[in-house]
Amino acid sequence: MSIHNNDSSKEPSIHTDFTNNMTYGEYLALDRLLSSQKRLSGHHDEMLFIIIHQVSELWMKLIIHEMQGAISAIQKDELQPAFKMLARVSKIQTQIIQAWDVLSTMTPSEYMEFREKLGQASGFQSYQYRQIEFLLGYKTPHILTIYQKDSELHAILEKAYRAPSIYDAAIEALARAGFPIDPDLLRRDYSITYTGNPTVEAAWLSVYKDVKTYWDLYQLAEKLIDIEDWLQQWRFRHMKTVERIIGFKMGTGGSSGVQYLKKVLDHRFFPELWDLRTKL
Ligand code: HEM
Repeated sequence: MSIHNNDSSKEPSIHTDFTNNMTYGEYLALDRLLSSQKRLSGHHDEMLFIIIHQVSELWMKLIIHEMQGAISAIQKDELQPAFKMLARVSKIQTQIIQAWDVLSTMTPSEYMEFREKLGQASGFQSYQYRQIEFLLGYKTPHILTIYQKDSELHAILEKAYRAPSIYDAAIEALARAGFPIDPDLLRRDYSITYTGNPTVEAAWLSVYKDVKTYWDLYQLAEKLIDIEDWLQQWRFRHMKTVERIIGFKMGTGGSSGVQYLKKVLDHRFFPELWDLRTKL
């Protein structure tokens, strides 16, 4: 990749013959990427609406990649590389939270001019978002039904649905470190959303009460809290942006809209890590 310069003609070594070499655009498949913004209404603001979703989906792709890497590192007790990947996830989350500021420049009147073109399409059907929820341990099966018509995608989603979450991996790490974790938990059905267990709470409490001895596990717990905290902030900003743009209208996905988005804010991915703060 070359450095852009306002007066490139004065750069003696600038490459201009790409007959036999790959360009920046080819490497990044920019032809496909930049021709994927297909407005259905021709309305000026629909471009913002499409790009904000596409950018969020691209970042989600990287979140999934990093989280899968982090889970396999935790499973091998390689916590330092996992911390690096989880720190990156948190930074990406701050980016997608900032994206709400850009979207908020669209007014309700502008959105209403092209909303009906979306039909029943909604972020509710974002399979990458559900994959992230699966990686965090929130296993809702409706996405599997929605994507039944696409067997390849359905298989990917089903695999993620049945796989251990990052919190399952963390609980197994606690057990390997010698904490007495309920054995049923260690052979549980991973497709069921985790709701809490007293042996896990006792283990995390011990970690937080003796951080010097359990520094790595303590750091793992704090990285998980970072991710859940940012995810809730993303959810909150989404809910408020939606209220600002459509008020209390129903969503295009068929939900009650803001009411539904408020309800999902109540879900906690890592319950013991929140509860222990009161108990310490
Ligand atoms: C004008 C902008 C937006 C509006 C009015 C809006 C509205 C809504 C509504 C009402 C829902 C609830 C489901 C439904 O009935 O449709 C929803 C869900 C969702 N939206 Fe948006 N949204 C907007 C922008 C975005 C953006 C930029 C993203 C980024 C990818 C996004 C991702 C999601 C996701 C992942 C869900 C599922 C949330 C869950 O089930 O917990 N939305 N949206």
